[in-house]
Amino acid sequence: MDSMRIGVLGTGIVGRTIGTKLVALGHEAIMGARSPDNETARAWAKENGARSGTFAEAAAFGSMVFNCTNGMASLAALDMAGAGNLEGKVLVDLSNPLDFSQGFPPTLSVSNTDSLGEAIQRAHPGARVVKTLNTMNCGVMVDPGRVPGRHSVFVSGNDAAAKQEVSDLLRAFGWRDIIDLGDIGTARGPEMILPLWLRLMRTLGHADFNFAVMRAENADDES
Ligand SMILES: NC(=O)c1ccc[n+]([C@@H]2O[C@H](COP(=O)([O-])OP(=O)(O)OC[C@H]3O[C@@H](n4cnc5c(N)ncnc54)[C@H](OP(=O)(O)O)[C@@H]3O)[C@@H](O)[C@H]2O)c1
Repeated sequence: MDSMRIGVLGTGIVGRTIGTKLVALGHEAIMGARSPDNETARAWAKENGARSGTFAEAAAFGSMVFNCTNGMASLAALDMAGAGNLEGKVLVDLSNPLDFSQGFPPTLSVSNTDSLGEAIQRAHPGARVVKTLNTMNCGVMVDPGRVPGRHSVFVSGNDAAAKQEVSDLLRAFGWRDIIDLGDIGTARGPEMILPLWLRLMRTLGHADFNFAVMRAENADDES
């Protein structure tokens, strides 16, 4: 696929892993943080021959923007990114609404009748929000082959063209079983599966696993 300009909002392990993969695929990326002096973002940029800046600078730069911020702070972070900088952009939302304030296991700060993906779309009606990749560890997000066999990634969003663009990128990451669940309201399910994912991580003792939707058709597909 053609090289894109991508803003990566978030300096945690997810932002760094996604950013590194995007640069490796030939895309231009800026990592955004609250402060333009964020040391983690600067170090990542230096290591990857990329740039770093504020959330607003990263969002303004990208034709596509990844939200890799803490789910409890994503609305605030996207507010800092600026609605104008997100207008018309594909906003790939990887965040989970996990509230660790009472320890482990976290609770979901929003669920059942709403989701963080929907809240982000409501807060930024001009952005083309696509919820995806939140149901697995970030190592698996960018390298699905590290879990053998055919397993699944979900996409939810109101804009079909945006989901197509994101699916193209997912294929470049190595994904084959990409399941379009429907509009952004369908982000509820992938967000509400997190309690199961977190318990599995504790039980299995590692994060190199994923959910596979097994069905009769496409039985020969891989990853
Ligand atoms: N870890 C995984 O493998 C995994 C898998 C699936 C989904 N996720 C989701 O991906 C997201 C990122 O996870 P992570 O572990 O990489 O990082 P994280 O520690 O959850 O989030 C770090 C980012 O959140 C920003 N942030 C924190 N508090 C903020 C506030 N009050 N206002 C604005 N921004 C704030 C930080 O900004 P600064 O850079 O300025 O400090 C930083 O960029 C989360 O929503 C997580 O649930 C994680």
